[in-house]
Amino acid sequence: MHVPVLEDLLPLDGKRVLLRADFNVPIKDGVIVDDLRIRAALPTMTWLQEHGATVVACTHLGRPKGAPDPKYSLDPVRARLAEVAPGVELLENLRFDPGETANDPAFVAKLVEGIDAYVLDAFGAAHRAHASIVGPPQTLPSAAGRLLAREVEVLTGMREHPKRPFVSILGGSKVSDKLGVITALLDVCDTLLIGGGMCFTFLASQGHSIGNSLFEADQVETCGKLLAEHGERIRIPHDITGLGPGGEIGNPAAGGEVRQFGTNLPEGWMGLDIGPGTAAEFSDVVGEARTVFWNGPMGVFEDPRFEAGTRTVAQAVAECRGFTVVGGGDSAAAAKQFGLDREIDHVSTGGGASLELLEQGDLPGLEALRNAPNAR
Ligand code: 3PG
Ligand code: MG
Repeated sequence: MHVPVLEDLLPLDGKRVLLRADFNVPIKDGVIVDDLRIRAALPTMTWLQEHGATVVACTHLGRPKGAPDPKYSLDPVRARLAEVAPGVELLENLRFDPGETANDPAFVAKLVEGIDAYVLDAFGAAHRAHASIVGPPQTLPSAAGRLLAREVEVLTGMREHPKRPFVSILGGSKVSDKLGVITALLDVCDTLLIGGGMCFTFLASQGHSIGNSLFEADQVETCGKLLAEHGERIRIPHDITGLGPGGEIGNPAAGGEVRQFGTNLPEGWMGLDIGPGTAAEFSDVVGEARTVFWNGPMGVFEDPRFEAGTRTVAQAVAECRGFTVVGGGDSAAAAKQFGLDREIDHVSTGGGASLELLEQGDLPGLEALRNAPNAR
């Protein structure tokens, strides 16, 4: 896919460049928990500064409702940015203005005022047709930053010419959220391993009893069809770790028994992780792969009682000798929690964006760049 790159904007001496970044980092009690997204934008910021540009960065943080909200203050981001990229200006949280998500032309006009060129490096938000993503390229010379370009190269490359066997691991709570990407992945990968909350709707479609586990009644038929059509290419768990009646997720102190089951859970029990047998089987499959894409944890890994499945799969991905990609969001957080993120070839900075790019082969932000005045 051809999108303009930074070199296409030269010369930049004395120019003001609007950089749309995704600094939507996890923050707890005012402290940044993981600054990957800030560090990932450094090559672009440095390159722009080295070529004489003044960088005016902008980002959203969280989901404020179109008005200033101290809960989503960019102060921690601004402080970190001043340390790692001195001289870069940072605008206010874009979503403090209702014009951002509404893609209001008046807000776009405000953003581009006094700006000479635009760089999109917010891969994690490039699937949003918001003002700061699709607006500036309508009038300004525009380019993809280094991070965006790399993400697109890796993810579209994996989609278009993966080394085989290509194994995908999908987790997460809802089948309905992942149906599009399940279908897209089944078109390109050899084996699809399914864990996480969504595996229970698949198990239910095979007539298993799933107790109080997550379940989407309206997806049972679809899950059954997928399994019937794709047979062995889709693997679902054959054992489950469950939490008994009275137990609370994320609160071991509340008690509740934790036990291993096969594919049937008793009434009142909740499946919260894939079992050790499934984790071992998934590891074997990953071990043979030459390309791996992993999105979504295998269980509730934030609770130490239900982290084993995700940890085992993460270790297998880390040890795999093939090319490994982890989609952003929860699975990237899991890989980091287990200290394995550095063993992975590409940890994407986009959760929803990486899935949408795999599914559609394109993103609103990329389309906007292709239509920029300097690209037409
Ligand atoms: C993310 O964290 O997923 C991206 O920054 C996009 O945020 P959004 O899902 O609130 O649009
Ligand atoms: Mg998201």
